[in-house]
Amino acid sequence: MSNILQIAQLGNPVLREVAQPVELLADHTVQELIDDLIATMGVGNLGIAAPQVNHSLQVMIIACKPTQNYPDAPIREPFAVINPVLLSTHGDTFFEWEGCLSIPGFRGHVPRPFGITLQYLRRDGEEVTETVEGFLARVIQHEYDHLHGRVYLDRLESMLDLVTEQEFQRLRREDMTR
Ligand code: NI
Repeated sequence: MSNILQIAQLGNPVLREVAQPVELLADHTVQELIDDLIATMGVGNLGIAAPQVNHSLQVMIIACKPTQNYPDAPIREPFAVINPVLLSTHGDTFFEWEGCLSIPGFRGHVPRPFGITLQYLRRDGEEVTETVEGFLARVIQHEYDHLHGRVYLDRLESMLDLVTEQEFQRLRREDMTR
């Protein structure tokens, strides 16, 4: 049984804390938190981090699939990333629109490095090192920021790159008809 947890919203201090590493990954409370995070993120979202549900722990869930807003996203089943360490980044910085469950009603055009190499634990405790690029690398960097007290707003080059969800949808429709 998993539970839908309440999402901490921008302004909640938990979003600005550096999350603590998980020490006992096999502990049922941690495994339940992972299940609850997956349930809470639902089907329309690409990632969620434990601080967003008021747990200041280095746990995040990444899921990738094409959505209405991101039709070109690759498919990747939900997986847990625990105690991640960003080893390196590579490639040119690129911009893409991002939203956040903790910042409802807004989208930002966020610059991020194209590729990353990340070391982390899977939920079964296996340590993996993975290099990913493009959209998936972006989703991971967004959630990784949450574990370090950062949100995408901190990455904006200009406040002109922040729009409301309504305006984002209008821009997207315009883009499609171009
Ligand atoms: Ni977020």
